[in-house]
Amino acid sequence: MDKAPLLEVENLRFRYPDGAAALAGVNFRLEEGETVALLGPNGAGKTTFLHLLVGLLNGQGRVQVVGRPVDRANIAFARSQIGLLFQDSNDQLFMPTVAEDIAFGPANARYQEHEVLQRVRQALATVGLSGLGERPPHHLSAGQKRLAALAGILAMEPKMILLDEPATFLDPPARAHLIETLRALPQAKIVVTHDISLARALAQRAVFFEKGRIVAEGSVDEVVQARSWL
Ligand SMILES: Nc1ncnc2c1ncn2[C@@H]1O[C@H](COP(=O)(O)OP(=O)(O)OP(=O)(O)O)[C@@H](O)[C@H]1O
Ligand SMILES: [Mg+2]
Repeated sequence: MDKAPLLEVENLRFRYPDGAAALAGVNFRLEEGETVALLGPNGAGKTTFLHLLVGLLNGQGRVQVVGRPVDRANIAFARSQIGLLFQDSNDQLFMPTVAEDIAFGPANARYQEHEVLQRVRQALATVGLSGLGERPPHHLSAGQKRLAALAGILAMEPKMILLDEPATFLDPPARAHLIETLRALPQAKIVVTHDISLARALAQRAVFFEKGRIVAEGSVDEVVQARSWL
């Protein structure tokens, strides 16, 4: 039997209670080790799509994570496999200090204390924030918050990582460091971005969202050209 893809989505639809269809039938697969860029205009449904994948929202259609449906019975499993970097870091950071925030996931997963501390140290170093662990997250700059939120995800070592506009607020050196960091990670990734050169640097494949549908697929350059997106 073929191995199940990491992620398999069929005819996924979603409507916010007060609005029009935010997703109108999306089909998508993510295989081990690949990085896919998710492009498309504001309001196209990209963030909604990521939130459906981790069960923050519930839609119609089928979402399978490593062969298991994302439903009530499997939600903890899905979340153990997927790390989501939120578009707004303020939605992600909630502990009194950065280090406690990064430790939250591993501690909750009941790793031993020395293992938790090791993961926090490693994650801070990976994102280039060593030395800021004792700061309250709300005393960080926007770019530092983004990196702290990413560290919290890396500390969990998920199978796939979903990144919603990861480079927003980052200065050029921090952006370059982020790209190198992400390139070095073994995990499969979905990167939502308006930053085409970041997409080129990271993704083997791109899909273009428009009005809740995927309307183009291919390499980043093929998709950008097909949609006249520059
Ligand atoms: N909480 C919400 N309640 C109602 N409607 C929402 C909500 N969040 C998003 N929407 C609507 O759903 C649609 C898709 O929004 P979504 O945030 O997924 O777009 P996006 O592609 O991530 O856009 P952006 O590039 O601006 O981040 C939009 O029409 C948006 O107005
Ligand atoms: Mg969005």
